[in-house]
Amino acid sequence: MMKHTLLSRDEFAARRAALLDKMGENSVALLSAGAEVTRSNDTQYPFCQNKNFYYLTGFNEPGAVLVLSKGAQTSVNQAILFCPDKDPLQEIWHGRRVGPQQAQLDYGFDLCFALEQMDLLIPQYLDGKTQIYSCHGADELFDQRLQAWNAALRAASRQGCKVVKTLMDCSDLVNEMRLIKSPAELVIMRQVNQISGLAHQRAMKNCRAGKFEYQIEADILHEFAQHGARYPAYGTIVAGGDNGNILHYTDNSEIFNDGDLVLIDAGGELAGYAADITRTFPVNGEFSAPQKAIYQLVLDAQNLAISHIAPGQTLAQLNTLVGERLTRGLYALGILSGELEQLIQDNACKKYFIHGLGHWLGLDVHDVGDYQVNQQRQQLREFVPGMVMTMEPGLYIPLDDSSVAKKWRGIAVRIEDNILVSADGYENLTKNSPKSVADIQALMGQ
Ligand code: GLY
Ligand code: MN
Ligand code: MN
Repeated sequence: MMKHTLLSRDEFAARRAALLDKMGENSVALLSAGAEVTRSNDTQYPFCQNKNFYYLTGFNEPGAVLVLSKGAQTSVNQAILFCPDKDPLQEIWHGRRVGPQQAQLDYGFDLCFALEQMDLLIPQYLDGKTQIYSCHGADELFDQRLQAWNAALRAASRQGCKVVKTLMDCSDLVNEMRLIKSPAELVIMRQVNQISGLAHQRAMKNCRAGKFEYQIEADILHEFAQHGARYPAYGTIVAGGDNGNILHYTDNSEIFNDGDLVLIDAGGELAGYAADITRTFPVNGEFSAPQKAIYQLVLDAQNLAISHIAPGQTLAQLNTLVGERLTRGLYALGILSGELEQLIQDNACKKYFIHGLGHWLGLDVHDVGDYQVNQQRQQLREFVPGMVMTMEPGLYIPLDDSSVAKKWRGIAVRIEDNILVSADGYENLTKNSPKSVADIQALMGQ
């Protein structure tokens, strides 16, 4: 297994310091950890930490609360964690807990307390502040508790306590920090891409007509875990034939047919960071002529878009390039008909390219961060070094599309790589997952 990089506690502390820096004077931010989610009766889904909370703490237990207290000029800033207390009985049943004492040593907080102390201490941290920041809507129960803590101050106003009048949403502050990846985050994102690439290789090698889609899903999850990415970053899509035309197909329950394509959208999660890779390849290892034509068109469009990624570029401009390339290609294949210049002007490929070209990637697969610089939703935000995004053009021709020749029907192709904007252009993080026709056929023919 490869050696993995984890983020240092200094990196998490630096993030907290950066958020404190952005907060208004004499304010306080409260962020809650994720909660366990019931799967059925008394069993839970694998726990996934709230990503904003994780980004600021590195702490991976449910139910915790981070308090960032920013003082007026003279007083000091503080980072305080409330976390589950040590409890031998609970730990025998449900697993080890860090506990407040160890958390303070290991995670670099100024103070740590048990969760039971929150009702007593949090109103004291709120008292007299001018603003409270939290991530509104992320955790409704926590929003209610926050209101209750503030109300406790109102109730104590005759004792001199001061209720906080301004409740602010700090999601955008954290989101914008998360959008630009640090060198240490990029090391992890390269690693999880490499692991995910190995999983796609394994899927290509093991795919056969007659197997079930979930058997190839099992190959992918096996490869993730073997290399340290125990969980997928999102529901793995293994879609044979026309199932590829269902964008979020996760049933993965059907048998592969000889002569069909298979579309696999799968990425692991490592130290909280996602990969998001799609490959499309023939079940039997050889593209048919129509499959190859559509595949090559999508690949050309993807390579064109990737080659233009650089600081200053925008998703809007890449969309224009890809739209024109796909429309020209579909016209040349006779799938779109009419007047070519008009088709390009109308972005006619949208009939078959039915989703966005890409999205930010990081702790979330559809990562946070604004795409706009105006109110028109035009994705005109210029790229800067440290942004990571997917590039994932696709063409989807439904089985029942009688407007095209029969040979095209049921073909679904998406090709998705993960791209870092670098100072002088880009770095494709998805290096080891074959995508040229020749490379795919060579791997599958071995
Ligand atoms: N895997 C989800 C996506 O490609 O956006
Ligand atoms: Mn994606
Ligand atoms: Mn994807």
